[in-house]
Amino acid sequence: MSSKDYFDQVAGQWDTMRTAFFSEAVRDKAYAAAGVGPGQLAADIGAGSGFITEGLLQRGVSVIAVDQSEAMLREMRTKFAGADVDLRLGQAESLPVADASVDAVFANMYLHHVERPAQAIGEMRRMLKPGGRLVITDLDEHNFEFLRTEQYDRWLGFKRLDVSAWFMQAGLVSVLVEGVGESCCADSSCGSQTATVSIFVACGVNPL
Ligand SMILES: C[S@@+](CC[C@H](N)C(=O)[O-])C[C@H]1O[C@@H](n2cnc3c(N)ncnc32)[C@H](O)[C@@H]1O
Repeated sequence: MSSKDYFDQVAGQWDTMRTAFFSEAVRDKAYAAAGVGPGQLAADIGAGSGFITEGLLQRGVSVIAVDQSEAMLREMRTKFAGADVDLRLGQAESLPVADASVDAVFANMYLHHVERPAQAIGEMRRMLKPGGRLVITDLDEHNFEFLRTEQYDRWLGFKRLDVSAWFMQAGLVSVLVEGVGESCCADSSCGSQTATVSIFVACGVNPL
């Protein structure tokens, strides 16, 4: 099964699954890092069923939400009917968002699913206006192999130094990668293992 097939399959249950994995404190850290406010436009990449999008809309921010999974987009279409959100089907390598068009880009628990993380960061930076911010929340490096086989994770988290280097290679400045103070918790379906993995928030600014 591909990652897309997996997320199509779990889309209807994703909100329940996500609640068990991590808390709303993660997105609060992301919003604080981005400093977004009413009247701004943000992109939520690998948006899933709209965890990040939901909080942005509550803050008066307009959203372009992108995901590879049609089933996830259907979940959002129902949940956010009438809201200021533009739902787009897209892949990490070529995201359907114009150059220099958004004030902030968010990606929560997306990076560890993409084939080429450094390239994916460059693609997200491309859509930032001058002064805009890229904020990624994801997993620190770990060794829970079952997350590869059971949840289709491509990478077992990341070293913060690597993430920081990829942000700088993408041309972002004032790069900061730090712990959120929260962990992601997931049980193996075999019942034999529980993964508890710390979460980082990475933020960088597109130069003026
Ligand atoms: C772990 S979920 C996180 C969803 C959401 N951001 C959240 O916090 O609940 C990862 C999401 O990224 C999407 N995704 C994974 N790889 C992708 C890719 N290469 N291109 C676009 N979307 C991708 C999946 O379809 C899925 O909805």
